[in-house]
Amino acid sequence: MGERGKAQNAVRSGSRRLLHPVGEDTSGLKAAQKFSLLIVDDDVDLALNLQDIFLTEGYDVAAAFRAQAALALCGKRAFNLALVDIELPDMSGLRLVERTEESCPKTECIVITGHVALDSAIAAVGHRRIISYETKPLDLARLTSLVRQVKERQQAEEALRQTETRLGVVLGQIPCILWATDAGLNTTSLAGVGADFVDKHLKLGGRRRASAAPPRDGKASPLLAAHRSALSGSAQSCELKWRGKDLYCHVEPLRDAAGVVAGVVGIATDISEQKRREAELQALSRRLAEVQERERGQLARDLHDEFAQTLTALKMSLDRAAVGVEGNTGKVLRDSSALVGELMAWVREFSLDLRPTMLDDLGLAEALLWYAGRFSTKTGVRVSLKYSGLPRNLPSEVGTAAYRIVQEALTNVARHAHAEEAIVRLWADEVSMTIQIEDRGTGFDAALLSIDKSIGISGMRERALGLGGTFRLDAAPGRGARISVELPLPNHPEVGRHRRKH
Ligand SMILES: Nc1ncnc2c1ncn2[C@@H]1O[C@H](COP(=O)(O)OP(=O)(O)O)[C@@H](O)[C@H]1O
Ligand SMILES: [Mg+2]
Repeated sequence: MGERGKAQNAVRSGSRRLLHPVGEDTSGLKAAQKFSLLIVDDDVDLALNLQDIFLTEGYDVAAAFRAQAALALCGKRAFNLALVDIELPDMSGLRLVERTEESCPKTECIVITGHVALDSAIAAVGHRRIISYETKPLDLARLTSLVRQVKERQQAEEALRQTETRLGVVLGQIPCILWATDAGLNTTSLAGVGADFVDKHLKLGGRRRASAAPPRDGKASPLLAAHRSALSGSAQSCELKWRGKDLYCHVEPLRDAAGVVAGVVGIATDISEQKRREAELQALSRRLAEVQERERGQLARDLHDEFAQTLTALKMSLDRAAVGVEGNTGKVLRDSSALVGELMAWVREFSLDLRPTMLDDLGLAEALLWYAGRFSTKTGVRVSLKYSGLPRNLPSEVGTAAYRIVQEALTNVARHAHAEEAIVRLWADEVSMTIQIEDRGTGFDAALLSIDKSIGISGMRERALGLGGTFRLDAAPGRGARISVELPLPNHPEVGRHRRKH
């Protein structure tokens, strides 16, 4: 057979028959992605038969009858799979597999062997690229099924690789770090900008994890604590600084199909910008509060110094003018003097409300005692004021904030709570001062407050946050309300402290 004669010397490649199923896309692109198969066997009949069979299966098939010809083919293109006869005239099949290691490192091989070489074929399956062996005479149904399985597996692996690459590209673009760990907290995958965060900063990955458990400063890393919490089943979040950035980290338990926690997944997002804005807002509200206090103080002084003094002078003039004047004119003068007297009292009250001088002169405790007494007289609500450990030289902005918060909270009790008593507690230690205002009145649902209808409450919160403190509101309908504020104190040892109960 002429055709066979030529083939004996060389190789046969490509489509001997075109048996593509109807509708199959035979465009270059698709053809390039076709599963490619190399058949190397010196039994030309067998090789050509196999080529026919696999061509009808829709594969891209090349056949070579000698090792050298196969080597030449492998030098030109890559194959997905090679069926290699273990005994070739010019080289052993195993040697051929080794020689194509460089040119076709990804080509998987199935060796074809007769009984004589069965042992070496079995041994060869240990080779990295040799996945199986088949004995002659070949069971064609088995072989085609095996090749189909290899094709499907390789395609699935390729699809997975592509998905992972695409996912990697997407994750590489988004400004967050994602990671997963196993139950031993060894990282199993990492993605995103700065993915070395988990491994390098927290040293969670690999064997170095243990060294990070208690970081050098002795404090447990909040991220490690969040990981441990997630491992015990509950998600946890934390914020931390990394390379000058503020990160918000959230760690969730990762469960297997049976629902058992098999590791954790974590996400860290950069919240530096948000933090910066928050800090700016706090600084702004602190400045606003300062300006407001300064202006109130100025207005209180002006009222007292200018207005009240002019009224005093007016009253004195009226009193003088009224001396010895009888009848209607005298009555008008005395009534006017009395009215000016009332106006003077009102101006004094008003200027005290604006800025009680004792806050500057006598300090927070005295100012609050005075205010509580005055408040009870005016509203009928008893005030129990307890304080302890208040430093004498309280920074003025802290004293003012505390005073204003108590003032606003007590006003709310009088206006909304329908309570007979309000309890005010203040205490301080070296680092902070805590203020609590509590009533057992009607209470309310804090979740229903709208921002525009809670200027008083927002103002208290802003004052607290503006000084770097915290604000907490506990209230429920029918169960009263409690406001708790903690204000940080500048760190200096305090000498004298007030201790007094009221
Ligand atoms: N101690 C309180 N007891 C009951 N309701 C309160 C109390 N404090 C605040 N509230 C409720 O919260 C709302 C918002 O309070 P606030 O921000 O001080 O605004 P305002 O006092 O001007 O209404 C009040 O209108 C009231 O309904
Ligand atoms: Mg109010």
